[in-house]
Parts: sequence; C-alpha cells; structure tokens
Amino acid sequence: MKFFIDTANLEEIKKAADYGFLDGVTTNPTLMAKEGLSNQTERIQAICALTSGPVSAEVLAVEPQAMLKEARILASLAPNVAIKLPLTLEALKIAKILAEEGTSVNLTLVFSALQALLAAKVGAAFVSPFVGRLDDIGVDGLSVVEEIQTIYANYGYETEIIVASVRNSQHVLKAALIGADICTIPFAVISQLASHPLTQNGLSAFLADQAKLKKA
Ligand code: G3P
Repeated sequence: MKFFIDTANLEEIKKAADYGFLDGVTTNPTLMAKEGLSNQTERIQAICALTSGPVSAEVLAVEPQAMLKEARILASLAPNVAIKLPLTLEALKIAKILAEEGTSVNLTLVFSALQALLAAKVGAAFVSPFVGRLDDIGVDGLSVVEEIQTIYANYGYETEIIVASVRNSQHVLKAALIGADICTIPFAVISQLASHPLTQNGLSAFLADQAKLKKA
C-alpha cells in the first residue's frame, strides 16, 4: 500500500519523507488555510520539490471554464502535480478533458461507490473516498472502499483508490487488509503507526538489564 501524507505543512512532509515511507502528498483548501495560505502556487511547488510522488492540488474555481483554466495552471507547476476536483457532474467533464490531455486527476469528496464508478469512467488517475466523514454519519467508510474495489476489479479500471479522511491507525490497518492502493494519512496518525506500548516497555526493560550488567 502506498502512503501519502495529507498535509500542506512542509516540516511534516520532510519528516515523513525522512522516515522513508512517503509515496505522495495530498492537500486541500482547508489544509492550505491551516498554513495561512490563500494562494497555493508556491506551496505546491515547494511540496513537489520534496517528493517525486504525486502531489494533489485542489482546484478552487467552480465555474467549468475557470476550473479548467486553474487546473491547467496548477498542472504546469510540476510534472508530479495531480489535479484534485470535487466529484460533481460539471467537474467530471473537466476531469475527462484533463485526463485526455495526460494530466493526473484525483476526484475528491467521494462518498459512494457509484461516484467512484463515474471517476473511473472519465479516466481519473485517483479517486478519494472520505472514510472518516462517512463513519461520522454512521456509514462504514471502509465498506464503501470495498465496494469501489469490487467494481473496479469487475471492469479492470486502473483508477487508484486513495483512502482519505483517515482519522486513526485502525483506518490504515483496515485499508491495508482490504488491499486499498493508497492511504493518505495526517502526520499525527503516521506518528502513531510505529508506536506500541509493549515496544516501549520492552525497550526500557532491555536497557535496564544492560545497565545492571554494567554496574555488576
Ligand atoms: O484527505 C481528505 C481529508 O483532508 C479530509 O479529512 O478529517 O477533514 O475529513 P477530514
């Protein structure tokens, strides 16, 4: 499973890259706003310099022609930019044009397998089901991911599933168990993945035993 980091924070991206398991980055307008950025151009370029993996940059325009224009500008920033568009009928048209031009498109704000089917049909490189937000409304988010996988396997679609809106390590575990292509994970959750109380206790015990020997 590929690990993307869901952030626009450069320090978090650098740390995740240093750990050695960073395959890409996803951003969104909320994450940009968290960094105090109203214009994302420079930040997307800076992120693209830190990873050769796909970096999703979300289009803010809502009117179709403006969407296309903004998407083309974002796509020109670096070869690894993926254009993030919300899954609406208007955006699907734009996604198809961009995909035919060879641009990677990530259809986002996806909450059903049927929406994901439409993403595959227009040739999106990625689809982003939001599992945490589905869980929030009492729908099992990972079961929607399983449905998407079944549909994609039925027809051989190559669109990769990015499990998004990940809130905890259980989301990552379950995504891996069902074989999702990619998980985009906030830095706080990435940090949790390596920790287990028994690892820490075991390490403390090993060090204490060694210290006793040295004193003897
Ligand atoms: O990848 C999408 C993500 O940023 C949304 O997460 O926690 O706001 O639902 P959340």
